[in-house]
Amino acid sequence: MFLLSSLLCALAGHVSAFLVETSSLTDLYPPLWKECPGQFSDYRVENGVYTINPWLYPERMGMYKILVTFTAEYFERFAPNNEANILWGLPLQHGWQYETGRLADPTDETKCGRENGNHTCISVDSWWACMNYYLSVLPFFGAIEAGVLGISSDQVQLLPPPKDQMYFCYSVTTCRSTFPETMTKWSTFFQQAMEPSKSWDDLLKYLWDAHVASIEEGRTSFDDRSLYFPKPETDFGKSWATAMNYIAAIRFETTLQNVTKFQKALPPRLLKPDDPPYFIEDFTDSQNRFLFLLHGLNKMHNDSGHKFLSLFRNLMKSELLRKMANTVLEQIILDDNISPQELDIIFSGYI
Ligand SMILES: *[C@@H]1O[C@H](CO)[C@@H](O)[C@H](O)[C@H]1NC(C)=O
Ligand SMILES: *[C@@H]1O[C@H](CO)[C@@H](O)[C@H](O)[C@H]1NC(C)=O
Ligand SMILES: *[C@@H]1O[C@H](CO)[C@@H](O)[C@H](O)[C@H]1NC(C)=O
Repeated sequence: MFLLSSLLCALAGHVSAFLVETSSLTDLYPPLWKECPGQFSDYRVENGVYTINPWLYPERMGMYKILVTFTAEYFERFAPNNEANILWGLPLQHGWQYETGRLADPTDETKCGRENGNHTCISVDSWWACMNYYLSVLPFFGAIEAGVLGISSDQVQLLPPPKDQMYFCYSVTTCRSTFPETMTKWSTFFQQAMEPSKSWDDLLKYLWDAHVASIEEGRTSFDDRSLYFPKPETDFGKSWATAMNYIAAIRFETTLQNVTKFQKALPPRLLKPDDPPYFIEDFTDSQNRFLFLLHGLNKMHNDSGHKFLSLFRNLMKSELLRKMANTVLEQIILDDNISPQELDIIFSGYI
């Protein structure tokens, strides 16, 4: 009897823990998620063609919302409530960019993205906003090509930004002709996601291949355009883009909960001209640990003439080593028992 009642108790605890978890999943959604379009009919339509303005945060986020909604069924076999949809990393990162002021006009010439101006405006002068274009539009169009979104390629067009239009593409056809390899990587990911036989690990691999390809396209176009931000922010952005190669190699699991957890370690505001590369006073320990590691990683990457990346990629072909790398990353960034100063002492001989 005792055994039975404790079993029931444990079960009840398990069930209620599960309920709490699922009801709070919606708290993790990116800013303004509820107000963003979640289906094509929420956008303007004329003669059967939908028009999206990707220079407004809700409309760009809406493309992500459509993506995670339409692909939910492919990830249900890994976890309920779309929590295991590995596409969550993209909208969550975009939400972080929005929340931390990284999508606003860094030149201050317009009020685009400012609280007292057009706060949902996305500035074409923001390096983050431009990089994110390739990480939102190309996956979105890749999904259309793969047939995941239920509309044909000529049914969606995007509006251009007020200037620098030549850096971007606006329809499935033009994006395909400008970025053929990256578009193929995104549509391959979606085709693979539709196959019930594909493993979690396989899907992560396809996702990260496409993600890294989008970042490389962005770097080719925008590396000279990051100049508007203060130097520490520019350096941070570039280091972050480099670090993505390593995160991709360990096939970081970009689920709703994992990404949210890690975002707590990201800089909560733009870095200022007098901010040091790490150990920033108003940042938390985990944010400073993250900046410290990012700096160290980039130093090793640079000093080795990128050989460290090849070595790392080779090592990470092993599933066991990938698992270990994920655990180490989680511990170093999130473990509050290690202070950034201690990390400095441990690694100062290497970095
Ligand atoms: C806000 O955006 C609208 C249209 O997008 C534009 O007409 C207006 O000038 C902008 N306002 C400011 C303060 O930038
Ligand atoms: C790595 O190299 C890039 C490009 O040359 C440079 O901008 C960056 O400051 C370097 N980072 C570190 C940590 O050495
Ligand atoms: C991501 O989440 C899964 C399941 O919740 C967990 O096992 C894994 O360790 C997490 N990965 C990282 C890098 O935190």
